[in-house]
Amino acid sequence: MTVVLDRPDWISATATIRKPRWSVEAPVAPRHGVVHPHAPGLEIVGAHSLVPLAGGGQIEYANLDHGASAPALRVVRDTVDALLERYASVHRGAGWHSKVCTSLYEGARGPVREFVGGRTDDAVIFTKHTTDSFNLLAHCLPARTTVVVFETEHHAALLPWEDRNGINVIRLPAPATPAAAVSAVDEALRTRPAGPALLVITGASNVTGEIWPVTALAAIARARGARVALDAAQLAPHRPFSIEDLGVEYVAVSGHKLYAPYGAGALIGRADWLAQARPYLVGGGATATVTEDVTTWKPLPDRHEAGSPNVPGAVALATACHALAGADRAGLAASEQALTDRLRNGLLDVPGVTVHTLFGGQVETIGVVTFTIAGQSSAVVAAALSAEHGIAVRDGAFCAQPLVRRLLGAAGCDVADGTGHAIRASVGLATTGEHVDRLVDAVESIASRGPRRRYVTVDGRPVPAVEDRELPIIAPWQ
Ligand code: ALA
Repeated sequence: MTVVLDRPDWISATATIRKPRWSVEAPVAPRHGVVHPHAPGLEIVGAHSLVPLAGGGQIEYANLDHGASAPALRVVRDTVDALLERYASVHRGAGWHSKVCTSLYEGARGPVREFVGGRTDDAVIFTKHTTDSFNLLAHCLPARTTVVVFETEHHAALLPWEDRNGINVIRLPAPATPAAAVSAVDEALRTRPAGPALLVITGASNVTGEIWPVTALAAIARARGARVALDAAQLAPHRPFSIEDLGVEYVAVSGHKLYAPYGAGALIGRADWLAQARPYLVGGGATATVTEDVTTWKPLPDRHEAGSPNVPGAVALATACHALAGADRAGLAASEQALTDRLRNGLLDVPGVTVHTLFGGQVETIGVVTFTIAGQSSAVVAAALSAEHGIAVRDGAFCAQPLVRRLLGAAGCDVADGTGHAIRASVGLATTGEHVDRLVDAVESIASRGPRRRYVTVDGRPVPAVEDRELPIIAPWQ
């Protein structure tokens, strides 16, 4: 049964979705990868995939959601496939394949360290992602550490320090300018209680794309005797940087944002606090000796990598780091900047659209743009972009609720559904000018006439009232 609604469709919670007839995987256009003009070797798996449109037809997928997760590089997939031919236990087996995998796993630390410009004595701990990396670091902080963090951080960097015994958290309000950020940190560190201190900052905002003044902040932190942890989840896929040049102590990255979606991330940085802490996870692999009375722990990095390690994830991350490090990153950044300018300027020209920034467009950005459309629900807009135009964006508060609330409040945005949610478009290696233009045209059409189709809410998300797109069959158990 299909329910036809006579009021804003997405408000209704009751509509029956036409059950899809399961089909084989959506066909893929003949071109299997995109060769970036500045980066031969950075072909993307699934670039040029076709996706279904509501009402019929297919269109090339315009992936503008790299800020959440990026597709795999072909070299990453090929390397993991080769590894899987020899997959075996790491650190635990005498067999040849165990030797191969142990060597690959341990060898993977090098490209990751080099990619972030780490010091030779920096630890490289494989984690699940940035959230896991910062939870690990929070676990290792010495007693009486003061953590200074802006409310503008995404939750992975904002929250791990809270509610830990002996840790004092100073949460700073959003600064109006980069200079105000530096002053606020200086004041917070100057007046902090005695003891160690850690400043946690993002390299580039996952909401506004704005690049933060990391070098200046790190210099202030150093002058005040504090360490710095850099959230490079968004910065690393877009810009080269170096731990040493920035003057920071720790960096966290996520493989799934770095074209290596195999479940690994990393914490890279100074070894002392990490080496002294009790293991983050307790279990096999982290233990040196276990007797009836006493357990002793291994040194880094094993100490914080208990359990069988994610070998494909670590190798995938290292392969992506190696591929990106070998690319023309200045050229990549320049071409991304051109696409980002085209995206931002296109959106700014659409009546009713607000593009949200913290620093008022005064700083360099990566290819991340967050916007709202007056009178339109961001969730419905995102659903319509997908269903009617084959465009992927993220909507919501992007795991950065305090920042999104502040930005929308500052802009006086009265979004239609009162959720305080926005829409984010984020570009990546396979983004084309056509993807950007398609988004701007679609936003223009939605802003002036609304979505073409009716939407209803199912499981808390808007979907077309008549859903005739078929999900592909990918797994044998489907
Ligand atoms: N931090 C991730 C994002 O921005 C989850 O989408």
